[in-house]
Amino acid sequence: SAFDLTRVADTLRARIDASLDAYCELSDGCPDELQAAIRYSLLAPGKRLRPILVLMATRACGRQVEVALPAACAVEMVHAYSLIHDDLPAMDDDDLRRGQPACHKKFGEATAILAGDALLTLAFEVLAREVHPPRVAAACCGALARAAGASGMVGGQADDVAGHLPTSDNPESRSTHTLESIHNRKTGAMICVALRLGALVAEADQTQIEALENYGRCVGLAFQITDDLLDVQGQEAAIGKRAGKDSVRGKLTFPGLFGAEESSRRAE
Ligand code: IPE
Ligand code: IPE
Ligand code: MG
Ligand code: MG
Ligand code: MG
Repeated sequence: SAFDLTRVADTLRARIDASLDAYCELSDGCPDELQAAIRYSLLAPGKRLRPILVLMATRACGRQVEVALPAACAVEMVHAYSLIHDDLPAMDDDDLRRGQPACHKKFGEATAILAGDALLTLAFEVLAREVHPPRVAAACCGALARAAGASGMVGGQADDVAGHLPTSDNPESRSTHTLESIHNRKTGAMICVALRLGALVAEADQTQIEALENYGRCVGLAFQITDDLLDVQGQEAAIGKRAGKDSVRGKLTFPGLFGAEESSRRAE
């Protein structure tokens, strides 16, 4: 029978959402307002693309998806933190996320920043505690930290907000290179590491890990090109966030550099 991706994704998303909900039942010591902000952003209706990729990578490597649920949730926690911080006034200054007011609009900037901090650290707590054996947990922590960190997602975000176009003898090819480098780090790294974590928890071999990562690099770039296109062509009601803001903010994007048609071709 034909593989029905929508149906498979819906089933996996339901399991991911149940696990996320359980992981953000936080213990005494977490202020109510902070817990509310964490749950508000993490459990909001996102596509759950990255955790679904973790689970499907594990399945592709021949293991049951259950073994990958903690890693899947950890990736989604880091992603949710990155969205909270991405929307802050000092960064993209967006007021709508996942069809609801951005975290800082609902809870204020200080609580939003701290909810992001808490989600980032909770991700590593979950990996350290829930992934077995400890050797695999350590490998997952290292891989996720590297992907999310200064040379990965955070580095890409830093260059994205700095937003300067390079000025050199060959500005066209330099800016293409810069743009791909930003996209590969700010978005591609988290998609790649989702696939790597799925393989790691399945104790896959090096060939399998590399195959999944090659796939992740391509999907990651196509995904951010599509996100850029949706900012130009999408409807707010459908994408759950404001449209048309990248050009206003002077962001370096694929449609900005190549036009919509060529961008779609490249994503395809
Ligand atoms: C948004 O990611 C940020 C980007 C990297 C483009 P998603 O489009 O996966 O957002 P959610 O998780 O579905 O809300
Ligand atoms: C964000 O890219 C990438 C992240 C690391 C969060 P964008 O700034 O284009 O994402 P949206 O459009 O706000 O979701
Ligand atoms: Mg951004
Ligand atoms: Mg943004
Ligand atoms: Mg965008």
